Amino acid sequence: MVRQMFAQIAPTYDLLNTVLSANVHRGWRRAALDAACLTDGCCLLDLATGTADVALAAARRGVRVVGADFCAPLLRIGQTKIRQQAPGRICLTLGEADHLPFADGSFDAVVMAFALRNVPSPEHALSEMRRVTRRGGWVVNLELTRPQNTSLAHMYRLYQNHVMPFVGWLVSGNREAYTYLPRTIQDFDSPAQVAEHCRRAGLEQVSWQPLSGGLATLHRGQRP
Ligand SMILES: C[S@@+](CC[C@H](N)C(=O)[O-])C[C@H]1O[C@@H](n2cnc3c(N)ncnc32)[C@H](O)[C@@H]1O
Repeated sequence: MVRQMFAQIAPTYDLLNTVLSANVHRGWRRAALDAACLTDGCCLLDLATGTADVALAAARRGVRVVGADFCAPLLRIGQTKIRQQAPGRICLTLGEADHLPFADGSFDAVVMAFALRNVPSPEHALSEMRRVTRRGGWVVNLELTRPQNTSLAHMYRLYQNHVMPFVGWLVSGNREAYTYLPRTIQDFDSPAQVAEHCRRAGLEQVSWQPLSGGLATLHRGQRP
């Protein structure tokens, strides 16, 4: 169901990200890459890469990137962007977060943006991210969250319940997807619970950082 929904909204996915987040999403992705402690020439997995925005931002830092996602239409859009912006520096592949098609310790770091709340088992996905990271490498998760501040949380809920479905429908023609996506933010685990998933997945030095007043949260943990 999730794969089909992302396939349906693929053509307008990038535009709606920019419109609905007032372009703040780019800064959040940069923060995720900073947290991954990337060095020149290292190899990053951008899991649930979608249209490859994280992968492209990483390639601009001189990093080799593999992007994996289970939605082929989004990957095709990502491939076009890579050809235009960073030819030959990013490899995209189909892959399920629950069963990553990579050997243990294949990457120096793994980043996933805006996808943990969509996977069947966050703990299992994080465990797979840990498995494919080398010892000492960082696993980073960026996710949309509910702000802690009560007034901001109230305004954000109004925005999610009314503005997002309307604008999403206007631009993509798909009201269900832009009703479902905000609902998953409201229903998803708290940052403390995600940190617990990270620990149970075998990550160490787990920490998290709210971004933009908690509209998004960055978690990271190290593979022991
Ligand atoms: C909200 S989009 C985020 C895309 C991208 N990371 C970004 O920053 O724009 C969520 C992505 O997660 C992918 N996804 C969801 N569940 C997945 C799974 N189980 N395995 C692989 N990819 C998945 C979707 O196909 C989609 O590309």
